[in-house]
Amino acid sequence: MRTQVGIVGAGPAGLTLGRLLELQGIETVIFEARSREYCEHRIRAGVLEQRVADLLREAGVGARMDAEGIPHGGIHLQFAGERHHLDFEELIGRGIMIYGQTEVVKDLTAARLESGLPIHFETPVESVDPETGVIRYAGGELECDVIAGCDGFHGVCRGAVPARMFEREYPFGWLGILAQVAPSMDELVYAHHERGFALLSLRSPQLSRYYVQVAHDEDVAHWPDERVWDELRARTALDGWELHDGPVLEKGVTGMRSYVGEPMQHGRLYLAGDAAHIVPPTGAKGLNLAVNDVRILAEAIVDGGLEHYSGQCLRRVWRAEHFSWWMTTMLHRLPGGDPFDEQLQLSQLRYLTTSETAARSLAGNYTGIETV
Ligand code: FAD
Ligand code: DHB
Repeated sequence: MRTQVGIVGAGPAGLTLGRLLELQGIETVIFEARSREYCEHRIRAGVLEQRVADLLREAGVGARMDAEGIPHGGIHLQFAGERHHLDFEELIGRGIMIYGQTEVVKDLTAARLESGLPIHFETPVESVDPETGVIRYAGGELECDVIAGCDGFHGVCRGAVPARMFEREYPFGWLGILAQVAPSMDELVYAHHERGFALLSLRSPQLSRYYVQVAHDEDVAHWPDERVWDELRARTALDGWELHDGPVLEKGVTGMRSYVGEPMQHGRLYLAGDAAHIVPPTGAKGLNLAVNDVRILAEAIVDGGLEHYSGQCLRRVWRAEHFSWWMTTMLHRLPGGDPFDEQLQLSQLRYLTTSETAARSLAGNYTGIETV
């Protein structure tokens, strides 16, 4: 068996790559370890940069996003008992799209199946050979001109690239809930609080997605719904404003890390998305970076220049690494409670809400820098 491009993983990276190459008449086969059902219900990111929303539209998979996604023009930063709005549209003329990763994955999967193209669910890849381009999976082998390693941080492709690793672990994580209740705010709220960070986000007019900072190894069993709501209320409290609760549909803890493997390619193997790099979620960059990688990879497969793939991706990757680290360290309570660090955080937050120059820098990074 042979194909032009073998894609390992049907997350946002693998599915988007499959779609972009389909539109260029390039043959692909996708292998995915989990079931379609599992992939379509794994709750993760929710913020799309405008350029990523545009790419999905251009790829012909933006119709439901445009109908059901919620464009936002900014975010709120909350600290010292005050809530400040950063108006991205006004600052830089760009916004973001609130549309869940689950929905992006559903749209791309449906489009692929409609085109009748191969996608093998519940078929874990066992190994990839960067020299020969052979993918080995349960029950067979596929020979490829190019292998796209889109199998995330815990996949098999990452280990097949001899890479220099850059890493940072954070001593905290996020406990996230999906709740069946209308969001209590008009735009996302990033809250700095002495009890720890909290983030108010949403998935739809009826679904709220809220997070609180917890220990990195926190046991979700210690967080009954009432405790989550109490903590969210304490960290986002504001005079004249109320957080409404509702049934909790999903609850989980996410660890935080920064990771980059350089280079992102070896022989016929090219890594994209979480397989190559991880950011802590505070900057909402993980999914956006994954889509950017495969945009560059698809262009290089079609037009040539694959030797420059890694270098081209890494410029945006490192910008996002810095932004995500910066947002994370500015907003979280640092264990150990160093009062000097806390004053630096508050000063930086104050600067962002009083200096248009500082606000514009955050807005540019958050919505996706144009040139890196
Ligand atoms: P993935 O989405 O991880 O997709 C990889 C796919 O490969 C998976 O479907 C996996 O099953 C499959 N796979 C793995 N191994 C194999 C194998 N051997 N063979 C075949 N298939 C395989 N980002 C944000 O911006 N905001 C968030 O709130 C946020 N929350 C997150 C919560 C969690 C728990 C995690 C893990 C990540 C979160 N992220 C978030 C990051 C964001 O979701 C990722 O950056 C994004 O999913 C990257 O897409 P990807 O396609 O590279 O990888
Ligand atoms: C969401 C996640 C993020 O990491 C973030 O920075 C903003 C929103 C979300 O899941 O909605």
